[in-house]
Amino acid sequence: MTVTIVGSQLGDEGKGGAVDLFGEAADVVVRYQGGDNAGHTVVFGDETYKLSLLPSGVVRGTTGVIGNGCVVNPETLFDELDALRERGLDPDLCVAERAHVIMPYHKVLDGIEEADRDDNEVGTTGRGIGPTYEDKAGRRGVRIGDLLDPEVLRTRLEYVVPQKRALAEEVFGVDAGDAFDVEAIFETYRAFGERLAEEGLTVDAGAYLQDRIDDGDELMFEGAQGTLIDIDHGNYPFVTSSNPSAGAACTGSGLGPTVVGDGDVVGIVKGYLTRVGNGPLPTELAGVDGQTPDYDSDAVDSDDPEEELATYIRDEGGEYGTVTGRPRRVGWLDLPMLRHAARVSSFTGIVVGHVDVLAGLEEVKIGTSYRLDGEQVDTVPPTTEAWARCEVEYETFDGWPEVDWDSVVADGYEALPENARTYLEYVADELAVDLYAVGVGPGREETVVLENPLE
Ligand code: GDP
Ligand code: IMO
Ligand code: MG
Repeated sequence: MTVTIVGSQLGDEGKGGAVDLFGEAADVVVRYQGGDNAGHTVVFGDETYKLSLLPSGVVRGTTGVIGNGCVVNPETLFDELDALRERGLDPDLCVAERAHVIMPYHKVLDGIEEADRDDNEVGTTGRGIGPTYEDKAGRRGVRIGDLLDPEVLRTRLEYVVPQKRALAEEVFGVDAGDAFDVEAIFETYRAFGERLAEEGLTVDAGAYLQDRIDDGDELMFEGAQGTLIDIDHGNYPFVTSSNPSAGAACTGSGLGPTVVGDGDVVGIVKGYLTRVGNGPLPTELAGVDGQTPDYDSDAVDSDDPEEELATYIRDEGGEYGTVTGRPRRVGWLDLPMLRHAARVSSFTGIVVGHVDVLAGLEEVKIGTSYRLDGEQVDTVPPTTEAWARCEVEYETFDGWPEVDWDSVVADGYEALPENARTYLEYVADELAVDLYAVGVGPGREETVVLENPLE
C-alpha cells in the first residue's frame, strides 16, 4: 500500500503535519517534485521542524527519498541535514541521481526574470526553481548523478554556462558575476558531489523504491506546493514549475501509476484559504499589498470588517510564509477549487486542518460555486483570466466555539463542536471523499484521526 499526500489549494495546507501523522506507519517517505521552495512544518511536543527540501518523514527516522522529479540545491540539502544532525537526529536520506541540480545561475535568473515582469511578477520564492525546470526541459540541466563525475560535470557546465551568461548579460542587460563562472561553479559543485559520494547519499530512486516495495515496505509520497499552483492544473502563469498533483508521484519517483493508484491519495485542505504570491483568489478577504492584484491597503478603510477578519485569521493561524516570511493572503474555503483538486488527483480522502483557527468566529463561509459571465460554474475555469472574473456564491455556516482541543482529541470526532462537524461533513460530502482526519492545532497530537490510510 502507498499513500500520496497532495496539497489541494495553493500550498501551505499542512502537508508536513499530515506526512508526520500518517507517516508513522510508513517505511519510506518520497518527495516527488519541487525543491527548497517548499516549507513543511512538523510539530511534536516542544519540537518544531521546518523542512524545505528533505522529506518530512526523516524527523521520525523514516527513510527519506528525494525523487527524480525534484530539483535539488545541494547547499540546502547539506544545511538541512547538518541542522537535523545538530539537533541529535540521524536522518536516513537518499537523493535520486536523476534529480536536477539548482545551480547558482538559476537563482540569479529567477530574480532577474521576476524583476523583468514588472507588475506581473509571480512572486516566486527566489530559489531558482523555475529556471532549473526550464533547463531540465531544455535538455541543458545538470543532474545529481553528474556531480559524481568531474569530467561529466565540466562538460555540462562548459555547454550551459556561457548560454546562461549571455542570457543574463545580453538579453536582460545585467552583470553576470561569479554565479555564471564555469571554474567557480565547477569547484563548488565537484565538492558537493564528493560529499554526496562520501556519505553514500545518491541512489537510482525508482529501482531503490521498487526493492523496498518488494521487501514489503510501505511508501508515502509527499507532495509539495498545491494543486492551484501546479504548472498544468494551476492558475498559469502564477504557478510553480512542477506538478504537485498526484500524477507526478509516478513520474517524479520512478514508479508507475498502478503503484500510486493502488493506494490512497489524500488531499490536504486548510479550513480556509491562504496564498503567497500573485494571482487571483476569488474568495479572498481584503488583500496584501504587493501580492493581491490591484490592491492598495492605503485606499481601504482600516475598519473594514473583511480587513479585520483577514488580519484576525492571519494572526491566529500564524499565516506568514515558512520560507520567505511574507504575510499570506487569506480567503474563505473555495469548493470549486477543491472539486478541481479532487478530480485532478483522484482523492480518496481529505484531511481538513486549522479548524481551531476558525473557532470563535460567529459565522464561517464556504464559496460553493462561481458565476462566470452569467453562468453557474462548479469548478475552476481553465484560464486564469476567467478565474479572476468569477464571482463567488457563498453558503454561510454558524461558527463554533473555542473548546478544549486536547479533550476533543482524546474523545474523538463526535466531541468536535457540532457546527464544526456540519462544516467538515459538508465539504467531504460535496467532494464525495472520506474525511480521514481533522487538524485542531499544529502538533502531531492535535489531530482527530478518523481513519489512517496506512493502518
Ligand atoms: P505545508 O507547506 O503544507 O507543509 O504547510 P506549512 O508548514 O507551510 O504551513 C502550515 C502551518 O500550519 C504550519 O505552521 C503548521 O504547523 C500549522 N498547522 C498545520 N495544521 C494545523 C492546524 O490544524 N491548526 C493550526 N492552528 N495550525 C496548523
Ligand atoms: P509548500 O510545499 C505556498 C509559490 C510562490 C509563487 C509560486 C512560484 O510549503 O506548500 P516558485 O519559487 O515555486 O517558482 O514560486 O509558487 N510557492 C508556494 N506557495 N507553498 C509552497 O510550498 C510554495 N512553493 C512555491 O509563492 O507564488
Ligand atoms: Mg509550506
